[in-house]
Amino acid sequence: MNDFKESVLQTNPLQEEVRMEKLPDPCVMVIFGASGDLTKRKLIPAIFDLARQGMLPSNFAIVGVARTPMTHDAFREYLAGAMKEFGGLQDSETALWDNFARGLYYVAIDPSVAEHFAQLKKELETIDAERGSSGNLLFYLSTPPSLYAPVTKNLGSIGLQRPRTPENWVRIIIEKPFGIDLSSARALNADVLEVFKEHQVYRIDHYLGKETVQNLMVFRFANGIFEPIWNRTYIDHIQITAAETVGVESRGGYYEQAGAMRDMIQNHMMQLFALTAMEPPVLFDAQQVRDEKQKVFQAIRPIKPEDVHKYSVRGQYAPGTVGGKSVSGYKEEKGVSKESVTETYVGLKFTIDNWRWADVPFYVRSGKRMPKRVTEIAVQFKKTPHHLFRTMPADSLDHNNIVIRIQPDEGISLRFSSKIPGSSMRMRPVTMDFRYGSSFGGRLADAYTRLIFDCMLGDATLYARGDSVDVAWSLITPIHEGWKTNKNSKVYEYPAGTWGPKEADQLMKTDGRQWRLP
Ligand code: BG6
Repeated sequence: MNDFKESVLQTNPLQEEVRMEKLPDPCVMVIFGASGDLTKRKLIPAIFDLARQGMLPSNFAIVGVARTPMTHDAFREYLAGAMKEFGGLQDSETALWDNFARGLYYVAIDPSVAEHFAQLKKELETIDAERGSSGNLLFYLSTPPSLYAPVTKNLGSIGLQRPRTPENWVRIIIEKPFGIDLSSARALNADVLEVFKEHQVYRIDHYLGKETVQNLMVFRFANGIFEPIWNRTYIDHIQITAAETVGVESRGGYYEQAGAMRDMIQNHMMQLFALTAMEPPVLFDAQQVRDEKQKVFQAIRPIKPEDVHKYSVRGQYAPGTVGGKSVSGYKEEKGVSKESVTETYVGLKFTIDNWRWADVPFYVRSGKRMPKRVTEIAVQFKKTPHHLFRTMPADSLDHNNIVIRIQPDEGISLRFSSKIPGSSMRMRPVTMDFRYGSSFGGRLADAYTRLIFDCMLGDATLYARGDSVDVAWSLITPIHEGWKTNKNSKVYEYPAGTWGPKEADQLMKTDGRQWRLP
């Protein structure tokens, strides 16, 4: 890759053809937590997708690390099975898979034990020599979060965080959750930065890798017509929704500690929030985009513990019906306490104290066991200042809105009023719709595919920076405190298959607004 093309990539990376000319450097990717769910369900299918598209360097290897003893071949077999189950591996892809599988290795060590890292280092040197991967290393922490700090420390104790030569690189991807509150996130950041430099650290939030989320920036900043109206003069309020039909599945133990706030709001929803509200960056690069997001986080008015009942609503699903099937309540799920007060739904009202957004509330909600799986950002515009068509009652006229559908049914729609054909002046809302499926065809790449590729290229634009994780926690932690201490704040039950507790409707009603029915 010559310098000219590199600079084109940096200044104009939205042009995919330009970007695709660049292949990542040879490297060895080391996955800690290789026998876990994420590796088989997401990571390997995502990386194999890169191989399908010819986007992997030929001198590439993956080293799975976990405690369970396993040979390289057994690991390859195990992942072939996983690829059939989760990665759509076809019989016609046997040759491609066999070639990919030759680059899969397995090292059984206990990643919490420092002494075991000497063996890992030795094996990495052998594999690097065998594959010709030139010494570049990408570590992926997909272990339980309690191991993030020890593994980082152990890598540092043996010098694996240091690039072998000035031309080499070493990077580390850290899965969520990054801490469970402000102080633990700060402690983890400090531990990680004790060993790695910030530019080596990639804190992953898979929502940022979703095509539709990236398109939010393109929609706002590559079109001239939306940005001028994207502000308090024209916008009444914004609703950001992530609803899931699933319950907590087999993750009751984890979820009891997390709840919807830590599981979805602190990371995914706050990232969507920042991308919706941020100012246009000067350049599309990691520093500028993340600086702008950071400014939004800093301008969000903190919700004080004594006010949580005014700005937040918590819910927990009770037994009910989803998609025509009876499902049990949260308290009946495996690994969940019968007395649990963990929230499976959160509705929040945020305000941003800056010129663009003063007095424009952002309502954010996320819940499990809702009637429909949908993630969307709905921008509700103000009504016309003058009510011209007197034959229609003023309150029957709809607000205009733009809805960015993140998933499923990815697309964007604009809703406006239109005259119903006929001799009288009657109106009803209609929509103009853009659908990814009809405009571009094919399926959208998985978020992990894009994010892992970016990390191999050294592009951190779509990763969370340490300071933004910190500030997101500084907004969430006081709400958690208020939930514990404020007697006015309760967890309300909602039947599975409904849009959350009725108290959540009240949050909007008080402002003369209502949640959308997506
Ligand atoms: C994960 C959460 O981060 O995101 C899960 O831990 C949640 O609880 C998932 O189901 C939702 O992701 P997606 O991509 O299916 O919307």
